[in-house]
Amino acid sequence: MNSESTLSAIVLAAGLGTRMKSRKAKVLHEAGGQALLEHVLDAAEATVSPERIVVVIGHQAEEVRKRVGGRGCRFVTQTEQRGTGHAVAICAGEAAKDGRTLLLYGDCPLLTADTIARLVAAQAKSGCAATLITTLLDDPTGYGRIVRSADGAVAAIVEHKAATPEQLQIREINSGIYCIDSALLWKFVGEIVPNAASGEIYLTDIVELLGAVGHRVEALVLEDPSEILGINHRVELAEADRILRARKARQLMFDGVTILQPETVSIDARVRIGQDTVIGPLTQISGSTVIGEDCRVGAGSVIRDSVIADGVEIGEYCFIGTSTVASGARIGPFSRLRQDNQVGAGAHIGNFVELKKTVFGAGSKAMHLAYLGDSVIGAGVNVGAGTITCNYDGTHKHTTTIEDGVFVGSNSTLVAPVKLEQGSYIAAGSVITDAVPSGALGLGRSRQSNKEGWADKKRAESKAGKS
Ligand code: UD1
Ligand code: CA
Repeated sequence: MNSESTLSAIVLAAGLGTRMKSRKAKVLHEAGGQALLEHVLDAAEATVSPERIVVVIGHQAEEVRKRVGGRGCRFVTQTEQRGTGHAVAICAGEAAKDGRTLLLYGDCPLLTADTIARLVAAQAKSGCAATLITTLLDDPTGYGRIVRSADGAVAAIVEHKAATPEQLQIREINSGIYCIDSALLWKFVGEIVPNAASGEIYLTDIVELLGAVGHRVEALVLEDPSEILGINHRVELAEADRILRARKARQLMFDGVTILQPETVSIDARVRIGQDTVIGPLTQISGSTVIGEDCRVGAGSVIRDSVIADGVEIGEYCFIGTSTVASGARIGPFSRLRQDNQVGAGAHIGNFVELKKTVFGAGSKAMHLAYLGDSVIGAGVNVGAGTITCNYDGTHKHTTTIEDGVFVGSNSTLVAPVKLEQGSYIAAGSVITDAVPSGALGLGRSRQSNKEGWADKKRAESKAGKS
């Protein structure tokens, strides 16, 4: 058996997080575009297979399950939050008893997979009972302090509230992240007695229990304390969000994406962006968005849950939601691809054009001021400025079909359901209510008539005071 297969994890995520002042469980709050718990599970799953991860849930257990249940991890419900030691102890029936166990907190979203791997490696190498992550803080207020023995081992963790004045001077703090020999964990976790002052069962007390029977506990000291920032209130949530987004931008830049003024962009953790794409300032790219290579995303554009192929140019201030854009297309500036659109290769969508549930064919163009909703538009179509699909009759939505090569003159009103057949031509200013056959001209307005001399006569009359 390799070491990965004998590694398990328990993630504590039952607390409400009183200081969040929220009806929502703390671990469901988002930073960097996903729930805090999702970040922790992402990091854990890099070294532990999901079926060996147990998540302790309590507050909003059903919502938490719904959010992360698809990953294949196990759940244990802690109905009453009786402390971190209690939360681990109740996993006895569900967790694996072999190998080593990682103990993680669901509210520490900045911990990286690399650091988890380092912790596991350090623990394996030392052969000691447990290794925990610590760091030195200028202001250790609120954290458990690390008490070292003469030989450098971790002798005890003293909670802030219980610390003596000398112990309060200790700057090395407990992150709450441990890698422990599973057999020893399950032997001793049940022996922790409730804290005399608070009545809670503190997981940290296991260090002294191990020490008392000669087992050694060591620490992996992190140089960068930001990784173990636990989120307790919304100011820390904002700080975690900032750090996660900065990390994401940095990673993308190392991977070959140019980001202009990276401190102004906001890119979610799951977003993928290809090589040599240039991302402009003040952009927001979120959810499951995937952007290809050699694209440009203009300043101020917002892209959500969309797939953008290679070589796409998105101008300034566009909005793209749940849509796909094929290679070489040009969008914007100031376009809105509201939802569920498919823009074909090389198509152009210009300023103040809104698309909703529309298939827009390869090489087609709608350059200015149009609303195209519930439409199926073929290839090589030209949609003139001011074209509106009337897709809604007050009760139902209807489809507008525009076949290949159609020319829609400016300011046309297309009353759906309606079909413009291949190669037809719509006169500007038409109101089209019936199908236009292939190759035909659809003219849906009264013809112009000119009254010769009318204007001259009118002016002459005005001058003569006849008005
Ligand atoms: C804990 C540690 C402290 C460490 C700090 C680091 C203990 C006793 N103390 O303190 O040494 O410096 O973390 O951030 O462990 N939880 C449950 N069920 C419970 C209690 C807690 O699931 O019954 C979960 C919480 O939802 C949270 C995590 O465990 O995700 C940590 O609990 P919290 O109460 O925040 O511990 P701290 O007081 O911060
Ligand atoms: Ca905490």
